[in-house]
Amino acid sequence: MIGILTQETRDIVKSTAPVLAEHGTTITSVFYRNLFAAHPELLNVFNHANQAQGRQQAALANAVYAAAVHIDNLENILPAVVQIAHKHVSLGIKPEHYPIVGEHLLKAIKEVLGDAATEEILSAWEAAYGVIADAFIGVEDSMYKEAREQEHGWNFFKPFTVVRKVPESSSITSFYLKPDDGSNVPDYKPGQYISVRVLIPGEQYTMIRQYSLSQAPKPDEFRISVKREETNDPNGVVSVYLHNGVNEGDTVEVSAPAGEFLLDTSITTPVAFISGGVGITPMMSMFETVATVTPDRPVVFLHAARNESLAAFSKDIEQHAAAMSNVKTRTFYSGGPDGVITGDILKSYVDVTGDAYVCGPVPFMEAMIGELRRLGMSEAQIHYEFFGPAMQLSHA
Ligand SMILES: Cc1cc2nc3c(=O)[nH]c(=O)nc-3n(C[C@H](O)[C@H](O)[C@H](O)COP(=O)(O)OP(=O)(O)OC[C@H]3O[C@@H](n4cnc5c(N)ncnc54)[C@H](O)[C@@H]3O)c2cc1C
Ligand code: HEM
Repeated sequence: MIGILTQETRDIVKSTAPVLAEHGTTITSVFYRNLFAAHPELLNVFNHANQAQGRQQAALANAVYAAAVHIDNLENILPAVVQIAHKHVSLGIKPEHYPIVGEHLLKAIKEVLGDAATEEILSAWEAAYGVIADAFIGVEDSMYKEAREQEHGWNFFKPFTVVRKVPESSSITSFYLKPDDGSNVPDYKPGQYISVRVLIPGEQYTMIRQYSLSQAPKPDEFRISVKREETNDPNGVVSVYLHNGVNEGDTVEVSAPAGEFLLDTSITTPVAFISGGVGITPMMSMFETVATVTPDRPVVFLHAARNESLAAFSKDIEQHAAAMSNVKTRTFYSGGPDGVITGDILKSYVDVTGDAYVCGPVPFMEAMIGELRRLGMSEAQIHYEFFGPAMQLSHA
C-alpha cells in the first residue's frame, strides 16, 4: 500500500503531522468552507448538524493525523479505514469525490500554514493523500461490489415505501420499509444500519441519516426505529421530519445495509446486550435473531431508559425472551429506584467469558465500556456502535 511513497516523502509527512494535528480543526474548517463554496452539491451528502458542532471536522482531522502517524505501515489503520468506508458506502461516496476532497484539503493546509507550507511539504502531503485515498477507494469498491452482487442488492439509493409506522414509546417510532420496485430486501447482519435520504419540503439540499435495522432480517422489509430529537435546540431535522412529515404510503430513499457492529450468529457463547435510550435498536435485531436462531445461547439484555414512557420495545423483549432457555432481561429507569447500570450490576449479570454489545449516548457507552474492561473483558469481546461520527472513548 505504501510502495509509491519515497522515504523522503514519508519522512516529511511524519515530521509535519504534529503541526497539522495542532491545526487540524482549523485546517478542516477552512477545508469544508472552501469545499462547499466550490461544490455546493456536496451539501446534499454531508450532515449539516455534525458540521455545525465540529464533529465531522474532528473525525477528518483525527483520520488524517492517524494516517500520517502510520505512514510507514498504513496497514495498521486498515480497521479504521474499513469502519469509515462502511459509512462512506452507505452515503454513496464515489471515487471521483476523492480528488475534489484532496484538492481542497491541500489548499486548506496551504492557507492555514502560510509560509510554513513549503512546496516540498505540500507535494509530500499530496502524495500521501493519494495513497490514503487509494486505500479507501479500493476498500469501498469491494464493498460496493458485494452490496450490488448480493441477492436483491443495489448500490447508492433506492426508493422505499413506508408501509407501516408504529409508535414504540413516547419518543421512538418504527418505520417498516418495502422497496417500491416490489423486490425483496437483501439479507443483512443483525447490528447493521441503512442510510435514509430525504428532501424535506422547503430545504435546498437532501439530508442523509443512518438508522440501525431494528428487527431480525426478514425477506421483504426493513424496519428502522427513530427517536424524535426535539428536546435540544435546534430540533433534529430528519428525525422530526420522519415523525411528523413522513406517513404510511410515503417514499424515502434507502441505501443497502452497511456497518460492522455485528452479531456473530454462528456461535453459542454467552452474550450481553447493553443499551441506553435509542441505542436499543441494533440490540433488538440481535436479540430477535438469537431468539430464532440460537435460543439456547446464554443471553443478558440490559436496557437503560429515563422512565417507563420512554422505554421502547418492552413487549417485544418479553416475547423474544420467552423463546429463549437461558436469558435474563432487565430495564433500568434512571428516574426510578433501579437507577443507572453500575459496574456492580454488570458484574452480577455479564458473563465476562463471552461477548458484550454496547450502544447508547456517548457518556453511557464510555461508562459501560470502562466497567466491562475493568471486569476483565478484552477489546475483542466488547463491541460498540456510535450513533454519530465514531469518536474516541475519552473516559473509558
Ligand atoms: C450507525 C448509526 C446508527 C444509527 N441508528 C439510529 C437508530 O436506530 N435510531 C435513531 O433514532 N437514530 C439513529 N442514529 C442517529 C441518526 O442517524 C440521526 O443522527 C438522528 O436521527 C438525529 O438526526 P436529526 O436529523 O433528527 O438531527 P440533526 O439535525 O442531525 O441534529 C442532531 C443533534 O444536533 C443538534 N444540533 C443541530 N444543529 C446544531 C447546531 N447548529 N448547534 C448545536 N447543536 C446542533 C440537534 O439539537 C440534535 O440534538 C444512528 C446513527 C448512526 C451513525
Ligand atoms: C482519504 C480521504 C477521507 C478520509 C480520511 C475521510 C474520513 C472520514 C471520517 C473519519 C469520517 C467519520 C466516520 C464516522 O462516521 O465514524 C467520515 C465521514 C464522512 N465522509 Fe469521509 N473521508 C475521506 C474522504 C471523503 C470523501 C472523498 C467524501 C465525499 C465528498 C467524504 C464524505 C464523507 C461524509 C459525507 C461523511 C459523513 C459525514 C457526516 O455525516 O457528518 N469523505 N470521513
